[in-house]
Amino acid sequence: MKTKPKIGIINGGGDCPGLNTVIDSIVKCLAAEYDVLGFYRGFEGLLEKQYIQLDPDFTNLFKFAGGTILKSVSKGNFPGKIGLNETSKIEDKIFQKTLKNYKDLNLECLLVLGGDGTLSVAKQFLDKGISIIGLPKSIDNDLHGTDFTFGFLTAVDIATQALDKLETTAWSHDRVMILEVMGRHAGWIALYSGIAGGANMILIPEIDFTFENILKFLNARKEEGKMNSLIIVSEGAKSESGLPMVKSGGGKASQILMGGIGADLEKRINATNVFDARSITLGHLQRGGQPNSIDRIYARQLGAYAAQMVKTKRYGRVAVFQQNSITDIDLAIAIDRLKMVDPSSSTVTLARSMGINFGDGLL
Ligand code: F6P
Repeated sequence: MKTKPKIGIINGGGDCPGLNTVIDSIVKCLAAEYDVLGFYRGFEGLLEKQYIQLDPDFTNLFKFAGGTILKSVSKGNFPGKIGLNETSKIEDKIFQKTLKNYKDLNLECLLVLGGDGTLSVAKQFLDKGISIIGLPKSIDNDLHGTDFTFGFLTAVDIATQALDKLETTAWSHDRVMILEVMGRHAGWIALYSGIAGGANMILIPEIDFTFENILKFLNARKEEGKMNSLIIVSEGAKSESGLPMVKSGGGKASQILMGGIGADLEKRINATNVFDARSITLGHLQRGGQPNSIDRIYARQLGAYAAQMVKTKRYGRVAVFQQNSITDIDLAIAIDRLKMVDPSSSTVTLARSMGINFGDGLL
């Protein structure tokens, strides 16, 4: 019997709605012609030769499940990026062992599902001669060169629903309700769900705010007889210090975890003795569970497109969404910088025209 060529799938970084859908799409499109190996826990699976052969009957069972059947790690032996735009080099010993396994397994290429960090690791392997095809995964939506990453719009739905629920208490109790959402460097989740969920104020890493401006805005609403306000803040938003708040982490096991800005604002607002504030952090709730319908479609499209890239040997590239269609871009370009919210974009302008404040003193 003729043996099929082998390819590998690797996912890295935080789990994300849609990962299993992409994996299932790839397997459905390729299993007839290729042996598809799914490596566990990202590149660690290739390092340790821990993998599973994927077939469509198996992946079909999990196609819309949250998380990833391949498991994932955020850091470990393949840290990718330490901070904003800082690539972290893979140790040579680790590199050599992983490369050897790739060769021993006789893999034709690796499909890597990841955000900026995981794809930076993939680029280091590309530079050593491994054939790589990237797929844009991240609830943060901050990968350069793609309009959307899969997982983002599900996270936006979850944050929007959270704002809808918080609005109930803000209104009934005349309170300032604060929702802290993910977004280490970019404020896409806060911006989109802030608009969709009717926030009065959106605080994001790309637009510096001051506490004085926040109070000015709350006082102006008070003058209009409105003591209720809804604030959504990205975990990476920076106030006067110019630095985001850090919760923990930073060792080998985990990246630096941001967080605490929501609770900090709650404390400072309550200290005025004028407003009554409460904060909640949405945390991993916004990353968990099944993908929404649009993310399922995006994941399907990306998986099928990437499968085509395998067949045409379109290596060193990442499948991306640009203006409502899928294309592919150079991997080096995708990881060159993060895609940040442009403060002068039409989306921010739209928010401002709805009366949403960004804590920067502008109306
Ligand atoms: O990169 C996606 C992300 O969701 C960030 O917004 C967040 O800071 C981070 O993952 C949290 O990851 P962890 O699962 O390590 O807590």
